[in-house]
Amino acid sequence: MAHDTQHINKQRQNLDAFDEIWVFGYGSLIYKVDFPYLKSSVAHLYGYERRFWQGSHDHRGTPENPGRVLTLTPVPQARCFGRAFQVEREVFDHLDHREKNGYLREIVEIELVTENRIVEGLVYIASPENAAFLGEASSDDIARQIYHSSGPSGPNRDYVFQLADALREHNEIDAHVFDIESAICRIHEQK
Ligand code: SIN
Repeated sequence: MAHDTQHINKQRQNLDAFDEIWVFGYGSLIYKVDFPYLKSSVAHLYGYERRFWQGSHDHRGTPENPGRVLTLTPVPQARCFGRAFQVEREVFDHLDHREKNGYLREIVEIELVTENRIVEGLVYIASPENAAFLGEASSDDIARQIYHSSGPSGPNRDYVFQLADALREHNEIDAHVFDIESAICRIHEQK
């Protein structure tokens, strides 16, 4: 699959079929909300965990020196914390462009915690089939790559710090994210 998924995403779902359109954010969509929305809710996605397994050539790295950003991987019994946003269809022009580096829109069941209900909605997931996928590595290797990467959206490490802060604000513990954050801080202290 090509890096740029914008074109594929446009044709994936018929957004007219939704009475309300909700999108689940688990990475930068939690803390960088640069799109209009009608409502937002603390939310959960069951059966997935966050991982820094996706390469970033366009936001937090460059084609020569890709950074690492989050995707979701299936894990039975897991619960991924995030934020869900109810949006108008037109917002997907922006979101598809923002998430174009390998992410595909998937339809999932989202638990809207604030609203106390479950809805069918969309989430952007970068699967191992996409050309920018980097996959599993040790926390130290992931942290080293992130520490040394930067792109048009800023230093890769800020992606980690901003997400970790947002999770702490919600009293959410995410061992993978906090491990990488600690490993980045260790690298920084050794400099
Ligand atoms: C998301 O936040 O839901 C997708 C991944 C990202 O943009 O960081």
